[in-house]
Amino acid sequence: MRIEPLGRSVSVPDGCSLLEAALAEGLKLRSLCRNGTCRECIARVSEGRVSYRVEWPGLSPDEKAEGFTLPCVALAESDVVLLQPHVDVLR
Ligand code: FES
Repeated sequence: MRIEPLGRSVSVPDGCSLLEAALAEGLKLRSLCRNGTCRECIARVSEGRVSYRVEWPGLSPDEKAEGFTLPCVALAESDVVLLQPHVDVLR
């Protein structure tokens, strides 16, 4: 996964959410509940495909169609570019 506009790439292990993968590499994305309900982490995928750990992530069909995702419950199904300007760089 590449996180833009930061321009950092991180590997996303199987079974790891985009949020967890970023944190494992020192990039703290905006989040609260981490279970797909609060929408605090909402961000857009500009390239690539994701699937979800939960059946009903808190996104409308329109938001999904526009590429929005909830990184706390999103799993990468391909290389992904995530547009998320709110990132704390821990290392
Ligand atoms: S952190 Fe709450 S929906 Fe992702």
